[in-house]
Amino acid sequence: MKITYYGHSCFGVEINGKQVLFDPFISPNELASHIDKDTIKADYILISHGHEDHIADAVSIAKRTNATVVCNFEIYVWLQKQGVQNIHPMNTGGKKQFDFGSVKCVMAVHSSSLPDGSYGGNPMGFVIESNDKNFYYAGDTALTYDMKLIGDYRHIDFAFLPIGDNFTMSVDNAIIACDFIKCNDIIGMHYDTFGYIKINKPEAIEKFANQGKQLTLIEIGSTITK
Ligand code: NI
Ligand code: MN
Repeated sequence: MKITYYGHSCFGVEINGKQVLFDPFISPNELASHIDKDTIKADYILISHGHEDHIADAVSIAKRTNATVVCNFEIYVWLQKQGVQNIHPMNTGGKKQFDFGSVKCVMAVHSSSLPDGSYGGNPMGFVIESNDKNFYYAGDTALTYDMKLIGDYRHIDFAFLPIGDNFTMSVDNAIIACDFIKCNDIIGMHYDTFGYIKINKPEAIEKFANQGKQLTLIEIGSTITK
């Protein structure tokens, strides 16, 4: 799998030849000013919740690429009103097989409203299972015991966890989450974008390493292989 970081919580993951884009927030992100959102490829766009910092570029990228947007029912209704046509609605607990792999929607403890203030439904995380690798994309969430359900019943090869604190889990909480999901290979997200969530990156990596875990912080615009 190839993983490209577009800043904040936005990643493009190539799974079985399909481009799966998570939580597109690029054009308003000063740290991602060198990324041209109009060149990003997408066959699927997965949206964890309705907040601006996860959905800002979803409409424009969906319309340009005709990607299938996967999101909760309330975001599905809102995207339809914005003229997006290719949308697959889901909700927490549901699993669906797509051509790249399966998507299971899992608990995220957070809030969700859309950029115009309308109700955004419940926030979600996603567990992706494929014949390549399995991973967990947590979205915005607090540390929660529900993460144990993921670790107890599914094999996770790597996970995207928020580490910026203030709005989501902190570095210390993400280290505990590793034990809940039984996965020690973590890609950090939701840090540094705003003043509230600035972190000390070398210190975060060291804290993980001290617990025998790996935290990868991808440079914005860079691609890694898993
Ligand atoms: Ni949020
Ligand atoms: Mn957020």
